[in-house]
Amino acid sequence: MKRIKMLAGNWKMNKLNRDLAGFFGTFFEAVGWHQDESLSDRVDVLFAVPPTLLAHAVPLAEPSGVRIAAQNIHWETAGAFTGEVSVPMIKEVGVSATLIGHSERRQYFAETDVTVAKKTKASLVHEVLPIVCVGETLEQREAGLTQDVVARQVKAALADIQDPKDLILAYEPVWAIGTGRSASAAQAQEVHAEIRGLLLALFGHSIGSGIRILYGGSATPNNIGELLSQKDIDGALVGGASLKPEDFAKMVRAAL
Ligand code: 13P
Repeated sequence: MKRIKMLAGNWKMNKLNRDLAGFFGTFFEAVGWHQDESLSDRVDVLFAVPPTLLAHAVPLAEPSGVRIAAQNIHWETAGAFTGEVSVPMIKEVGVSATLIGHSERRQYFAETDVTVAKKTKASLVHEVLPIVCVGETLEQREAGLTQDVVARQVKAALADIQDPKDLILAYEPVWAIGTGRSASAAQAQEVHAEIRGLLLALFGHSIGSGIRILYGGSATPNNIGELLSQKDIDGALVGGASLKPEDFAKMVRAAL
């Protein structure tokens, strides 16, 4: 099954509403997005932005076929959960995807395999595309536990899912995030192949072969070409380089 490459930017806790128009203007121009209508069929582009930017980013991006995603959601629809945002809430403002289980949330905000599974389920129930993040720490890699940790995270996240209509996984080794030290293309491909095997075992060939697996961790215009040339790397989840419209535009062009 053909998997269209996806370039997803994760802005983390960066940018203000006043930055949006300039950012998207420069980005679309640098990609040549509006000069070639076929681009939005050949590459998927998405930005996961802070909650205050969601409603303002949607009209700047979604009409051009670029998705806006939340960086986190709560699994309940509504209720007494101070400070949380539900899937229907993001959907109401036109958001069509969400990150789930980013390592920064696991590390600093007590996200667990259990909450990741609940959020993945809630996202699918409300037909918002989940991008489920997994990845090992440096200690785990050095102890030879990479495959075990990633397999546990993937299985736990998908434990309650039978027939995912649309789902994306992101392999983000924690030691590569924000460090300037990307996994090599071969290191990333090795883990992606393992995840692909798990997806085939869980969902069968027709669904498992269609689920995209993104790589994240110090992806830049310099290393994106090699990463994307790997058989099971279907795109990238990009932090730092997605804050610079020209750099991210180069990465999108590399996927074409
Ligand atoms: P960097 O690209 O800044 O390493 O961040 C990766 C990431 O965490 C994307 O979700």
